[in-house]
Amino acid sequence: MKILLIGGGGREHAVAQALCKSAKEPKLYCFSDLVNPGINALVKKTRGEYYRGNINDSAAVVKAAKKSGADFVFVGPEEPNFHGVPDRLEKNGIACIGARRNVAELEMSKASMRDLQWKYKVPGRLWYKKFKTFEEAAPYIEEFADSVALKPARQAGGKGVKVIEDFQVYLQDDKRKVKREHAESIINEYMKGYDDIDYKLLIEERVWGPEYTVHCFTDGRTVLPMPAVQDNKHAFDGDLGLETGGMGSISCGMNLRWGKDDERAILTDGEYRKSVDIVNMMIEAIQTETKEKYHGIVAGQMMLTSVWGPTVIEMYSRLGDPEAGNVLAVLKTDLVEICEAIIGERLNTIKAEIDDRAVVVKAVCPEGYPNHRDVASGHKVAIKGKDDGILWASVDYSDKGIISGGSRVVECLGMGDSMPDASLKAEHLTQKVSLVDGWKLFHRADIGSEKSMHRRIALGNMAREIYQYREGKGLLGKRMIWIPGKGLVEVG
Ligand code: GLY
Repeated sequence: MKILLIGGGGREHAVAQALCKSAKEPKLYCFSDLVNPGINALVKKTRGEYYRGNINDSAAVVKAAKKSGADFVFVGPEEPNFHGVPDRLEKNGIACIGARRNVAELEMSKASMRDLQWKYKVPGRLWYKKFKTFEEAAPYIEEFADSVALKPARQAGGKGVKVIEDFQVYLQDDKRKVKREHAESIINEYMKGYDDIDYKLLIEERVWGPEYTVHCFTDGRTVLPMPAVQDNKHAFDGDLGLETGGMGSISCGMNLRWGKDDERAILTDGEYRKSVDIVNMMIEAIQTETKEKYHGIVAGQMMLTSVWGPTVIEMYSRLGDPEAGNVLAVLKTDLVEICEAIIGERLNTIKAEIDDRAVVVKAVCPEGYPNHRDVASGHKVAIKGKDDGILWASVDYSDKGIISGGSRVVECLGMGDSMPDASLKAEHLTQKVSLVDGWKLFHRADIGSEKSMHRRIALGNMAREIYQYREGKGLLGKRMIWIPGKGLVEVG
């Protein structure tokens, strides 16, 4: 059996490892713009081949698939989905694990995702407004915008989202200014170069609560859910600093437990199941809308909010990065068998076996990431000893050595009976990585730590107390305002 993997980051290294663990002993081929040393080692070991090229160029991907003679292609990142790579492969008779262009709209356009969610009445509907230009958005920001999340309306590598809390009347003018400036920068900077979408800016009501991602495999008929994973977006310990593509991720059991034999958890079993139902409803909605089957991976990037309980923040048409490390480390079922079942639309015959241990992934990044990738790139990377447990990410491997690409260099993966235990194991691995020229690396030591778990669980409890109260009063998802003389009035 031969498999062609598209993409060369940390997520794809995790996918490559899972595919190569298969009892079917596949030959692994890879097509990517950069050479990932971890994937390259697996390609060599299985006697496949590594091709360099533009992963969004569907003709080039088809050519590589034909050259390799792949039985199927596994698409790692989202951009090839947005560029119709799976559609082109399938038109050429090549089976593919990857969302076709129309169904990938669920991720590509955050505005379409919200439109769809409201049209099909999927629970967790946040208020939103979409804009094509800054001029359209400016009066809205001036008059109405309260505490909001400002987002690029197209998936732009997880960049550009800003949440602004606007509670203090004496700061309202300043906050309005920040909102205007950020809205302008979303349209002029973050959305620059994306001309495949009408709407540029999305303004959503701001919600709070613990975030988590629920990935599912699907063949368009059956959904195979994976454990909830929590990504840590902020650059520094204590959730401080800029938002990144993800500084590390945690998982344990299906519902983010403290430990495998521990009752404490960020989500209840019921909340986890409701989150899976919501992802399922989103798949059904996009399939009804497009009349196309969803083949591949879909993920709900969710939040347990005080307004709705489980709530979709965004959807992914692929595995998250670094969340893929968590999901695939505990998936005991053969990934190749899952892929074949998706392609044959018989996913209902697969039972997912999941290891219930904790997994903590910590990304190690060069200083400069995420906003100054120019200074973060070009440094030679060294590892002390073996790279077991290390997923290679944004690096390029050549005869000059392994060179940083400006984003997360490696993702260090620890497994244990509890989150703090797995966190310490991942921490130990981070110490093995350095840059030869002395340029500094940073990572988050707190991911999965006791203190961080206490905070995450407490945040979940606070959101739960409020949404369950609302639920008991029949107010779930309803927005109420206080009007003097009238009391609480439902709005919207
Ligand atoms: N971890 C965020 C993402 O995969 O987009």
